[in-house]
This record gives sequence, structure tokens and C-alpha cells, in this order.
Amino acid sequence: MKGIILAGGAGSRLFPLTLVASKQLQPVYDKPMVYYPLTTLLEGGVREFCLISTPQDLPRFRQLLGDGRQWGLAIEYREQAKPEGIAQAFLIAESFIGGDAVTLILGDNIFYGGDIFQRAFADFKSGATIFGYHVHDPERYGVVQFDEQGRAISIEEKPKQPKSNYAVPGLYIYDNSIVALTKAMKPSPRGELEITDVNVEYLRRGHLRVVRLNRGFAWLDAGTSSSLHEASAYVQTIEKRQGIKIGCPEEASFRRGFLTLDQLEALTARMPRCEYREYLEKEVIAEARLVVS
Ligand code: G1P
Repeated sequence: MKGIILAGGAGSRLFPLTLVASKQLQPVYDKPMVYYPLTTLLEGGVREFCLISTPQDLPRFRQLLGDGRQWGLAIEYREQAKPEGIAQAFLIAESFIGGDAVTLILGDNIFYGGDIFQRAFADFKSGATIFGYHVHDPERYGVVQFDEQGRAISIEEKPKQPKSNYAVPGLYIYDNSIVALTKAMKPSPRGELEITDVNVEYLRRGHLRVVRLNRGFAWLDAGTSSSLHEASAYVQTIEKRQGIKIGCPEEASFRRGFLTLDQLEALTARMPRCEYREYLEKEVIAEARLVVS
């Protein structure tokens, strides 16, 4: 499974924070925002990534994430010159996707809790898998409606009168037919290739699976200054209480077996002395050494 991280957009709702650094590079408590979606896919076993961003912001992402080799990954970069929709990512990344299935995650979506995504990746065979999450303000999102048997029957983008409280979060899994499907699509009235139109088409073909995320699951939005602050506070609360880190790609790579313990140790030794390094040394490496010995 290939992974696309879409980190485009002007971030205008975060002005002036986004004047010199894009939204997905802003700190969410102790790490850049993009670390969280990257780690979510990594935990699901994705190892090959394509990060898509604007021509102005792409160099910064490259500086931050490099070619991914340090984490046992491969990361490529592609430009989205204009904000012409989430689904345009599949056209931009066509050569990267090749003949594989692909998952797309939005660079400002932060998820925490349970292994529901891991299971969805492992179970995925064909068609499309998307998710539904209960929110109080569904009109801001793609909204999915279910029948009595729990089957999805409609999906609408930012409806004025939502038919349910279930929003579709920014993590989508598609089989390889996504490329041809996107090529055949027309832009919406606002000039974008809409991800909701993609999902509606999979639904029409009878190839869409919608998994409901349960109550214990957190999906955080970090698109405005107050939601960014709340996301930071949430991450800080969990991390302090549990002594673990959310969105730590080094740890996730190691736990997935993409990095050996020796490689993780060498990588950590190159970090400046800081709390992040201390966490990896004490909570990840020392613990793993205990298990090994
Ligand atoms: C986009 C999608 C929407 C989805 C949301 C998730 O909206 O169009 O269907 O629910 O991401 O974050 P946007 O964030 O571009 O307003």
C-alpha cells in the first residue's frame, strides 16, 4: 500500500502563523503537525510515501523529512501548483501509485486511539474504505448517512442540512481504480476535484466500505488557532499522563520493524540533547533492550 500525505492549501485560517511556514509545519505541542499523519500511516504499515504540497512549501517539508531513509522509509515529493482539490492528488501522484492500492491522509488530520486503521489497512482488498466519526458540527465536513443496517447510503460535501452527525475524516483507502476514476472526474462548481465525489462514485458502484470510528477514538482538527491550541493541549495531556508520545515516527518505524534497534539507537544519538531524544532513549530504546536481554 502506497501513502500520500496531502499538505497543501494556503492555511489562511491560521494567518499570520502561516505567513512563513505552512499549516502542516506548525507545532502541535512538541512536534510539527505533519509528524502525526505520517505516523498514523506508518503505524498502518505504509512505508512508501509521496508528500504533496505547494511549490513554496515543498522545500521546507523536504528539509524536515528528507528522503525518509533515516526512518526506514521512502519519501517522494510532488507539487500541487494550485488548490484544485484533494482528489487531484491521485493525478499528481499517478507515477508514484503505479499499480498499487493507495491511502491518502490530509496533513492536518490528527488521530489517536486504538488499532482501527491498522486493521482497515490489513483487511483492505479492493474498492474503497473510508471512515465515519460522530461530530457536533457535521456541516463543516463530508457527511455520511447510514441506513438501519448500518450501511452507507449517501455522502454529501458540507451539506447545509446534514443527514447525520457522521463526518468523513481525512484518511481514505483506495484500490488502483482510483487513478482512472479521478481522470474521468469533472471539477466541482468551486473548481476542485472533490474527494466526496470520489467516494460517492465508489458508493454508486457498490465498492465503498465505511467504518465507524468508536467513541474512544480521537480525531482532532488543527485548522484554526483555537483548534490548533486544543490539539496541542490534548497531545500534551495524553503524553504527560501516559509517558508515551503520539506521532513519533522514529518509534513507530521501530515498532513496525522498519528500523532495527541499533539503527534507532544510532539515529537517536545524532539528535541534540532534548526531551524528544530523552524519550526515545529512556522509553523506547532502554525498554526494548530490557526485552532483548
Ligand atoms: C475536506 C473534505 C471533507 C472532509 C474533511 C476532513 O474538507 O472535503 O469531505 O470531511 O476534509 O478534514 P476541507 O478540510 O478541505 O474543508
